[in-house]
Amino acid sequence: MSTVELIRKKRDGGTLTTEEIHYLIQGYTKGNIPDYQMAAWAMAVFYRGMSDKETADLTMAMAQSGEQVDLSMIEGIKVDKHSTGGVGDTTTLVLGPLVAAAGVPVAKLSGRGLGHTGGTIDKLESIRGFSTEMEISEFTRLVNKSKIAVMGQTADLTPADKKLYALRDVTATVDSIPLIASSIMSKKIAAGADAIVLDVKTGDGAFMKDEEDAIRLAQAMVAIGKHVDRTTVAVVSDMSQPLGFAVGNAIEVKEAIDTLKGEGPADLTELSLVLGTQMLLLSGKYGSPEDARQTLEQCIRDGSALEKLKEFIAGQHGDPAQIEHPERLPQPKEKIPVPAETEGIVQAIQAEEVGLCAMKLGAGRATKEDPIDHAVGIILHKKIGDPVKKGETLATLYVNQTTALEEVKKRLIRAIHIQNRPASPPALIRCLVT
Ligand code: URA
Ligand code: CA
Repeated sequence: MSTVELIRKKRDGGTLTTEEIHYLIQGYTKGNIPDYQMAAWAMAVFYRGMSDKETADLTMAMAQSGEQVDLSMIEGIKVDKHSTGGVGDTTTLVLGPLVAAAGVPVAKLSGRGLGHTGGTIDKLESIRGFSTEMEISEFTRLVNKSKIAVMGQTADLTPADKKLYALRDVTATVDSIPLIASSIMSKKIAAGADAIVLDVKTGDGAFMKDEEDAIRLAQAMVAIGKHVDRTTVAVVSDMSQPLGFAVGNAIEVKEAIDTLKGEGPADLTELSLVLGTQMLLLSGKYGSPEDARQTLEQCIRDGSALEKLKEFIAGQHGDPAQIEHPERLPQPKEKIPVPAETEGIVQAIQAEEVGLCAMKLGAGRATKEDPIDHAVGIILHKKIGDPVKKGETLATLYVNQTTALEEVKKRLIRAIHIQNRPASPPALIRCLVT
């Protein structure tokens, strides 16, 4: 096989065979195919697209390019949930214990945050002692015992994707639906998922800002799932404003605790129930969406979901007393209100900008090496459609170091658009793709 022939075939709109795709991915991972050839191929894919079969082949080739997590020691169907990334998105912290309390195993490999989006592991590390570093044998033991564990991603998962994603980043080939879809799905499959629930975000704070694009990405990933025998469903959900009210780490843990008590923000609660319902259905243990949803609601009402969170935290060496007493979670030196400069109705809250403001305060990292401050972040007090009076508090900044404070205040006020005309809240759930 010749790499240049495969590039030409794709350039001219042809369809690569399974063998040809594996040849490219294996050759690239091993370093036999240079970056410039892979970049030319990625650009050809960008213009010509890939068939569903080619996309599925690419997914599997990347999933098999490195270590593959074997979860076969865990009883039951392992349903993974993945979000394409948002701002203030605390759903994993809510969903994990909730779904586990309903008897479905949650074996989650999670990552850290970068840029305007936060990571589940960073949030969990707000809890004293909590650790996500463990051997796979310990991970499976915990899931079998408690139905839930969260582990940090190991170094050697999908090396082909790591290399290709970095290459796409510098060759203007990131925004290709088949390349994004295969990139995301390869990681889930390598992490051992039998079935996958995707939360594809759309709006200002999302990777896919446009709803049509988000739906096309969702459809592409569901199609991959069908081809490779991992049942996949996707929920397309709103990220045109941050989810819930808290954007940070400890404050998002607190928001998750509130939600598990049935006292959380309406949007975070609803999204958790919608995604959780799909997870329970894919587990094969529940017959109908109504049945699944009622069980989840019951687990919140009777406290079993909150108990499950404590058990999960304790199982990974965290301090469950901090769940019972969230005021013992890391606290900032100062809580600074940001008052509204005008009155009117909230028209928009630029989620990405809010995420970047939280990062500036220290809640997130600009580069992979940056440390984060678990205590800091932003609590919003308004959602789209809410009326605001002049001088009323729009947000509270949780602050430890005050260097970026004035800049953050200014940017945050600009990110919350207020005008004297009505605005209706965006629909949280846009569609379900199966
Ligand atoms: N997220 C991924 O994991 N891969 C992409 O290609 C784009 C977003
Ligand atoms: Ca939140």
